[in-house]
Formats: sequence, structure tokens, C-alpha cells
Amino acid sequence: MDGDQVLKLKGASLHIPSALPATVVVGLQWGDEGKGKIIDFVSEGFDAVARFNGGSNAGHTVVVGGTKLSFHLLPSGVMRNKRLFIGNGVVVDPEVLLKELDDLASLNIRPDLLISDRAHLTLGPHKFRDRFEEGRRGAFSIGTTLRGISPAFSDRASRVGVRAGDLLEDEALKMAYEAFAGWNRVLINEVYGEDGDAIVKDSFAKLKEVAPRLRPHVGDVSAEANDLLSKGGKLLLEGAQGYFLDIDYGTYPYVTATHTTASYAPAGIGIPSQSVQRVIGIIKAYCTRVGAGPFVSEISGPLCEAIRKKGGEYGATTGRPRRVGWFDAVAVRSAANSSGVTELAVTKVDVLGGLEKVPVCDGYMDAGRVVARPPSTIVQLRRCRPHYLEVPGWPDLSPEEWRDKAKGGIGSLPEDLRSYLKMIESSIGLPIRYVSYGHDRADTLELGKDVS
Ligand code: IMP
Ligand code: MG
Repeated sequence: MDGDQVLKLKGASLHIPSALPATVVVGLQWGDEGKGKIIDFVSEGFDAVARFNGGSNAGHTVVVGGTKLSFHLLPSGVMRNKRLFIGNGVVVDPEVLLKELDDLASLNIRPDLLISDRAHLTLGPHKFRDRFEEGRRGAFSIGTTLRGISPAFSDRASRVGVRAGDLLEDEALKMAYEAFAGWNRVLINEVYGEDGDAIVKDSFAKLKEVAPRLRPHVGDVSAEANDLLSKGGKLLLEGAQGYFLDIDYGTYPYVTATHTTASYAPAGIGIPSQSVQRVIGIIKAYCTRVGAGPFVSEISGPLCEAIRKKGGEYGATTGRPRRVGWFDAVAVRSAANSSGVTELAVTKVDVLGGLEKVPVCDGYMDAGRVVARPPSTIVQLRRCRPHYLEVPGWPDLSPEEWRDKAKGGIGSLPEDLRSYLKMIESSIGLPIRYVSYGHDRADTLELGKDVS
């Protein structure tokens, strides 16, 4: 490769590749930042798009030429006809995936998809357990998407999971399913007091039915992704959920069951960590959260309802109304730092149009003391009060007016919006590269440098 460094070490050579261009896209809030849209927009310049975490809990929406499509498992690069990978870090619900493929087939789209043979499957007993656990927690329920995500990751860690690669050979499937069924039968019978036998049998029958359709898509994603990179191909790694739903760095226990940070991307796909050169952090111009858990800058009342309605803030997977709050610079700053974000994409700036003042949370106060980073316990986080800075709002424009203004570039957007964006850049300490002002792929501005 041009520019590669070759060091001579007593006869041996140490080969340091100069360019392994993988780019990661992650959400820096609680998910639903608009990752699907931005990934669809940027994926044009890539050869392959890979999902590296989460499962069918994700809901990524892409709007092309007025047609809206939501994906739970397929990478959002699907509408660009890119090679698609689902990595080992993802838990795959076979039925959800096949439905997505069927829906696309009815539009005459047949994606070039490879699922990692090491990716775990989300099966019927997982969904049963998710629902049961949520019920058992009662008032302390997490508000999960009920897609069986946490039980599937639990079985992975307990080493009783079934993986996509097991579908390739009857003997492997039999062995894996026996271990899986043994544990799930005991758990459902003895702990949950339900008919575990019937649930695991039903799930096996369904799995055998769908296996032949999945098999052609299962393979060694790590090998293929590395091969693509070594040939100079460009890989986009698509994160699901957001930083504050990360199993360690989120608002535990109100989190999902996997990592959502950019540093998990190489592990979740099986490529070297040094191949990641660019990390795009997606932020919405305000915050939303779906499900329970602390939310320092949350608002309620008519303004909250108005933003929810205007922004269409209802879960793409569950349809639940999303909770709404102001932009939280404390949270985003710490997420961007830890995820090694190199540039930002700000979405839904149109939704805030028409407000006289726009509050931004620029500090957390706990009993009169400033808290610089989101604390690890929900007890302290719940005590934190937001400190707000107020900036002037920008006008409410119609979609046509936004498009018209955007034709003139960033300089033609409303001045107060530009000040808002500048304020975000300086409070997070990173440049904004993309600004999204509408649903459609076309409603996106790509900026060369800092907002001016
Ligand atoms: P789970 O991932 O279904 O276990 O849900 C755990 C928490 O993560 C709940 O608060 C969900 O609402 C939230 N969550 C999971 N996936 C997403 C997503 O893609 N967007 C937003 N929230 C999510
Ligand atoms: Mg979503």
C-alpha cells in the first residue's frame, strides 16, 4: 500500500499499514439521534456497512425520496446497495431479519448480506424471559423493547447461546440447541413457573424452518471485513442505541445489554482497533429517551408534547412516546471524549425552530456542587439538577424553506441556528460535519470545516 512504513529489524520487517480506513458512527445520547439517516447519507462513500452491536431493539429510519423505511437489523447502508455485514457483536432475531429481507424483496431489493457465524441468535425463550423479567420488576422495570436482547446476551455470557454458525451443520445446531434448551427449560420451569418445555420446542421448530433461508447469508464476517480493508476498501461501522444505553457507561441498570461505544466497533466486527480512523458522533439538537431511567435535562408539559409531536418522537421499534429534554452538553461531552469522536453530526435542528429561547444544559449541580461528568450511580444522577444556558431561538420554517435556505450552504441558515451550532462545537470541543434539517436523505448539509 502506498506510504506504508516498512521498518527493518535485524532482517525481519515490521509492516505498519498507513491507511486502514474504517469509520464508526455512534449515537452520543440515548439512541434515536438519527443515526440511520446519517449512515444512509454518508455510506455513499463506502464499500460496506456493518452493524457491530445491539439487535432488533434498534430502529433505524431511512427516508429516500419520500419513502420511509425502518430497519432493526439490516445496516442502514442497505438503500445504497452496499455490501452489508452483521457482526459477532450483534444478536440476531432470525424472524425479524427474514421479514426485513422479504420486505425489501417486495421492492426488488436483494441485499448482499453476510451475518457473522459467531453472532448469537435471539430466540423465542429470550423474548419470553424479557417480558417476564420486565413484569417481575414491576415499578422498577427498565422499559426494554421486549425483543429478548438482554436474555440473549446473558445466554452468550453463560455459554449456552446458539450462534448463526450453528445453523450451518445439523450436528452443531443439535449440540448448541441442547445446551440452550437445557438451561432455558430449567429457568422457565423452575424460576418462572411456566411450561419451559413447550417454549423451547416451539422455538426449535421455528428455527429449523427458517434455517435454510439464513444459511446462505452466514459466514466469517471478520475475515471478509479484514480482506476488504486490506484491499483498500472502505468500511462503515454502524452503532445501534446511544452512549448512555451502554452496559457500563450508560445509566446502569437502565441500559441495554451490550456496548454502544465506538471502541466496541472493532471487537463487534472482528477487525483491528487501529483500523478505525474516524468516529462520527451523532447528536440530536435536543435529547430524547425511550424507556425508564434518569434524564437530567428532561422536560414535561405542553412544550415537551409539542416537540414530541413535531419531531415524531415515538419509538421506531415499539411505538412508545419518547421522553424529551434539552440538549445536554455535559453528557455529550463525556460520551464524545470516551468514544474518541472526531466529528459531529447534528440532527433535527428544524424541530426546534420557532422557540424564543433554547435552553442548553451546560452543567450538573448536586447539592450546590458542580458535577463535571455523569456520575456512575443512578442515585447521584437523580440528585443532579441541570444548569441551563439560554440561547436565542431560530424561526420555524417549512420543509421547502429549509431546503431553499440550505442551497446557499451553512452561511444561509438562520443566524441564531448558526450560533447554536457554534455553541455546541465549542462546548463539546469538536467540529460539526453534518447538519440534518429534515427527514429525507437530501435534507442534509455536509460542512467542510467548522461552522462559520
Ligand atoms: P433493551 O435493549 O430492549 O433491553 O432495552 C433497554 C433500554 O434501552 C430501554 O430503555 C430501551 O428503550 C432502550 N433501547 C434499546 N434499543 C434502543 C434504540 O435503538 N433506541 C432507543 N432506545 C433503545
Ligand atoms: Mg431508533
